[in-house]
Parts: sequence; structure tokens; C-alpha cells
Amino acid sequence: MVIVDCIVSGRIYWRGELVDAAIAIDDGKIFDVGLEVNLPKADRYYRFQDKIILPGLIDVHVHLRDQELSYKETFESGTMAAAAGGFTTVLDMPNNSPLTDSPSRFIDRVNLAKGRIYVNVGFYSLLPKCLSEVETIANLGAIGFKVYLNRRYGFLDPSDYDSLKQYLNVCGGIGIPVVFHAEDHSTISKLEDEFRGLSDFRGFMWAHPIEAEFKAVNGVLNIASASNCRVHIAHVTSGLIVDLISKFRGLATCEVTPHHLFLTSDVLHKLGGIAKMEPPLRGIFDVISLWNTVRNGLVDVIADDHAPHSIEEKFGESFWDIKSGIPGLETTLPLMLTAVNYGLIGIGDIVKLMSFNPSRIFNIRGKGSIEPGLDADLTIVDLDREWVIDSSKFYSKAKFSPFDGFKVKGIVKATFVNGLMVYDGDEIICKGGEILFGRRIRG
Ligand code: NCD
Ligand code: ZN
Ligand code: ZN
Repeated sequence: MVIVDCIVSGRIYWRGELVDAAIAIDDGKIFDVGLEVNLPKADRYYRFQDKIILPGLIDVHVHLRDQELSYKETFESGTMAAAAGGFTTVLDMPNNSPLTDSPSRFIDRVNLAKGRIYVNVGFYSLLPKCLSEVETIANLGAIGFKVYLNRRYGFLDPSDYDSLKQYLNVCGGIGIPVVFHAEDHSTISKLEDEFRGLSDFRGFMWAHPIEAEFKAVNGVLNIASASNCRVHIAHVTSGLIVDLISKFRGLATCEVTPHHLFLTSDVLHKLGGIAKMEPPLRGIFDVISLWNTVRNGLVDVIADDHAPHSIEEKFGESFWDIKSGIPGLETTLPLMLTAVNYGLIGIGDIVKLMSFNPSRIFNIRGKGSIEPGLDADLTIVDLDREWVIDSSKFYSKAKFSPFDGFKVKGIVKATFVNGLMVYDGDEIICKGGEILFGRRIRG
């Protein structure tokens, strides 16, 4: 008789609906799904009754930092924050110190993460110095490449769309997706020069208008179609931009962050640097239009852009000197569950935007739904629990948030990674993460 490692029961999001059932887990994989009486016996039973069991959530935009930026976040603190926030997989950004921009630096970073991660981690790379290294990094297992068009990180000049085109030709041929921070560098730098004298938040905001996003997204979409390269536009801030991207279905996808959905630029008066990020918060019409595109199914992914900094870096004499970015891993799911409670989206949308689509877009095998044979990554939530966000309780080293004091409805009850309960709703219990290596879509 088979005895499986454990059985997890509750209301499972299974094949498009919630069903009262149980999941048998063995050797880190889902062994079977069904009524508990029909499943094999198990060594351990986790019963969540009326709680909701979702396929493990995947955050495609996380800055885990570490290395020389360990004071902001480490592989341990960042992946603990992920587990506590209900994420079973995160994709790590390459704007590190040192930059993740060559085969050897890619290998170093992956090796450094080994044995230290509580959830699964996949890695992006910047575009390397030579075109020939693109394939080397892809073969080393990069999930995708990341391109910053707003400022220079590494070898690519962000204004040099001709070189970009050559790189995208190669990426298109290999079948590896390329993620963009799409704000046009030349537009931003001109405006920065113009508003440099304005030291409060208005100078920075005026230097990052929506037009800079439009210009960069347009440029990327044109190059992507010519090179047949799959592109993903990070942190889109307005429904106007989502509409543009949606004209390129099949080639281009996009993500939206909770801060661009739940905050407007008005909060800067009160929060100052705590609400500084790039691209910046926008006005109410952008926010409403963004929600419309989420609700119409035009947005592919909700991602955090978890960008931790030390608290000192979030304050300064001049707004220009304050670091851009906020932590998001421990606030995103509660905010999105609150949106479910208010009828803005359904629980199925959470699964699509935060698990299924991320796994499909980044070609992550074995994840994105609950089915026998897939990895036993599960996010268990209580949709009814009301609580107040308090950043001092974060596992992230970045203990600040523009959402501090927000009353939310919906909380993480447990997080299972590769069959192990890593977070029990109260504390982090063990490490469950594995390094994810990207697979090529073509070739
Ligand atoms: C990010 C960071 O701090 O690394 N900051 C941000 O404001 N979003 C960089 C980025 O994602 O563009
Ligand atoms: Zn960015
Ligand atoms: Zn980012």
C-alpha cells in the first residue's frame, strides 16, 4: 500500500472552481487530488477546512539583492518574506552589485543562493557585453533577460535602440523572453535637467511622465515584432499603456504592481520618499484605467517589484537623492485578496495573474496549477480575516511600506514549497526552495 508524505485539505482552486477536496503530496510533487477517502494514507495531515488552497504564487519581479547590497536584503530575508507573503517562487532581478551581467557573474550569483532560499528562485541576467554570451547565459539557466531603458546598468546604452535590436534578434532566435523597464532614457534625462532645481517630489515626478513610458513601450514593441522576440513589460502604470501592449498579443505581455493599483501620486504629500518608486505613482485616471484593463483580462501578471532599501535611503534633504523602490512581497497578496472581497476581481483572477500566467510566460515547468505530477507548491489563504498592514513585522529587511496602516481582508495561512510547509501562518519553519533553471521556448 502506498503511503504518501502528506495530505493537505481545504477548498482547492481546481480546474477553474473551488472544490472541497484534498491533495496527496509525495516526494515534493502532487501525487493525486480528490476526496480524502479516495486518497492514499499519509504520514502527515494538514487540514485547512474552509480555507482556500491556490497553486503556489509566482512573483516575476523581485530584487533579492544580497552580495554587496546585503544590507538591503539577502537571499534568506527576501525568500522568507516571499514565503510569508504567499509566494512559492520568485524571479530575481539582475541590477545587483556586482551586476548580474556575464556568464561568470550569473554562475556566482546562483551558487551564492544555493542552500539559502526558502522558496524557489529563478534568475534574470542583464544583456552581456557580447552577443555570443547571450546564448551562454541562456544555457546556464537564466529565466530571461532584463533591460533597463530608464538608466544605464551594465553594457547596454539605454538610448541605443539599434544595439538593442541586435540583442533581441539573438534572444528571439534562442526563444528566451526579455523583460523591460520601459521609461525612455532621453526623455527622462532632458526633464531631469529641466527640473533638477526642484528638490521636493514634484521635480522627480515631472521628470517621469507617462509619455516616457509610451515612448519606450512603442520602441520595444516595434523592435520586438521585427526580431520575433517575446517581450514582457514590467510595472505598467496606466490602462493607456496596457491597451497599447495588448495590440501585440502573442509577442508582448505586461505586468502591473499593487502600488500602481492601490495608490495615487497624492500620497506623496504625506509619505514622501516612502512612496518613491520608478515608474512613479500616477493620477486617479491612470489608476482607474489600470483597474479596467485588469478586469478586462488585458493585464497578464500582477508582480511586486519588491525593491528593498535601507530606511536611511528612503529619506533625504532632496527628493532626488532618495532611492526608488519599496518592498512588496508581504503586502501584495493581502491587497489582492482585499480586491477579491470588494468584488473587483475573482479568486480565479488571482490564480491566473499570479500563478498560471507567470509560469506560462516564463516557461516555468511544473507550476501554475494544481494537478497530479506538478510540484507541490501551494498558497493557502483565509479570505475572511481582517487585519492591518504593519511593516515592522516584515521578514524583509525593508521595514517600511506606503501601505502601513491599510486595513485589508485576506491573509496567508500557510505556504508549501516542494511539498514542505515553509510558512505556517505564524512563522517560517524551514527552507523549501530550489533554484529554477530556465528552459528555452524554441530551439
Ligand atoms: C528598482 C530597484 O530599486 O532596484 N526600483 C524601483 O523603483 N522600481 C529598480 C526597478 O525595478 O526599476
Ligand atoms: Zn523597473
Ligand atoms: Zn524592479
